[in-house]
Amino acid sequence: MEIPFSKETVNEVLQKMHIPHVGNATIRQTVALSEELEKITGQKFVHLEMGSPGLPASQIGIEAQKKALDSGVAQKYPNISGIAPLKKQASRFVKAFLNVDINPEGCIPTVGSMMGTFASFIVTNHLDEKKDTILFINPGFSVQPLQANVLGYKKDMFDVYDFRGEKLKEELERHLAKGNIAAILYSNPNNPTWVCFTEEELQYIGELATKYDTVVIEDLAYLGMDSRKYIGKPFEAPYQSTVAHYTDNYMLMLSASKIFSYAGERVATVAISDKLFNRVYPHLEKTLGMDTLGRAFIFTVLYTLSSGVCHSAQCALAAMYEAACDGKLDFVTENREYARRAALLKEVFLKNGFHIVYDKDLDQDVSDGFFFTIGRKGFSGDDLLAELIHYGISAISLRTTGSEQQGLRVCTSMLRDEHFPMLDERLRIFNEKYPLDK
Ligand SMILES: Cc1ncc(COP(=O)(O)O)c(C=O)c1O
Repeated sequence: MEIPFSKETVNEVLQKMHIPHVGNATIRQTVALSEELEKITGQKFVHLEMGSPGLPASQIGIEAQKKALDSGVAQKYPNISGIAPLKKQASRFVKAFLNVDINPEGCIPTVGSMMGTFASFIVTNHLDEKKDTILFINPGFSVQPLQANVLGYKKDMFDVYDFRGEKLKEELERHLAKGNIAAILYSNPNNPTWVCFTEEELQYIGELATKYDTVVIEDLAYLGMDSRKYIGKPFEAPYQSTVAHYTDNYMLMLSASKIFSYAGERVATVAISDKLFNRVYPHLEKTLGMDTLGRAFIFTVLYTLSSGVCHSAQCALAAMYEAACDGKLDFVTENREYARRAALLKEVFLKNGFHIVYDKDLDQDVSDGFFFTIGRKGFSGDDLLAELIHYGISAISLRTTGSEQQGLRVCTSMLRDEHFPMLDERLRIFNEKYPLDK
């Protein structure tokens, strides 16, 4: 079938899949929709919706995992707080790339950062009777507010778009001053916008977290991928920017999924500050039966969720951390491939009359990386997506990420070089129907 696909064809598939509007579709639904349209039309889609790693898994991890399985670890329950080599190497890793000191005790594996945030929401919601709300600095990864919904926890949120720099401090304080915020969550670099907080902004967040005694859950799923700075030399500046430099109230989410392209093995580390790990909370003892945050996190929350993390995957992660710290695995340079694709993609979109929605980190352009955002004058995000589907282009509407801006999230991970001319041609046809000056 020619591009654009007919309205009838698209509507028929939408109806069959019970999707009333493409803008409301989840990522999985969007993938299914585009795959179905590929079958019917015989045209390959340009997939900009999926956030899977687009690089091969780290070979160092694979070898270590195979070796671990051959040595018999599958038979044994791993230590629930993490196997000793992983805890040691994770602690080294945060020192090497963040310049943060955390005892191995506070470095705890989870089944992906997905479980890391889920468990962190639970523990932080039990610290203080009055603090029962998670504050999301939006936009964000849509599964995380869903986790709060599943847990029945209250949410507060704001879109960071209008609150950068000093304004972030004011807005954050406005929310924290209510006294009900158990934890603040954001990702940095940010999914979906690739906004990266400046040192000044991280300092505001950290200082306010201390002032209002709340926990920062900092999601570093894309650690090292702000392509404006190279943090890949272990134990040498510059380091990954982190709130951990400005407060003791932090829990860091270190996912192996994108850092080491190890998403399939579902493994991550939660790194809890020494002070928070050992802090006694009387309310915690009443509700979760353990008085310190670290022990409640491990021996109540993780125990009830999965009683530990896949033994061989922990061996893999330990080996990858070790290799990175020893300068034998330059994950930062390997992941620069996403920045290369983002730069090319942005060029194609800008040339065809689209704009970057979240375009700045204060006075600097956002960097190139795993995600970015696009908009088109005259279109809401939902409408733009609904239209682009007819051109064999799929993405996700920013609305589904808690953003109040109009546009789409574009993910660079699945792009191959042959997709760039294909996208360019399809946007050219789009522009015939929707000329730029109208
Ligand atoms: C910001 C963010 N956090 C967490 C995750 C999930 O990490 P994991 O695969 O370790 O569960 C993702 C994956 O897309 C993400 O974008």
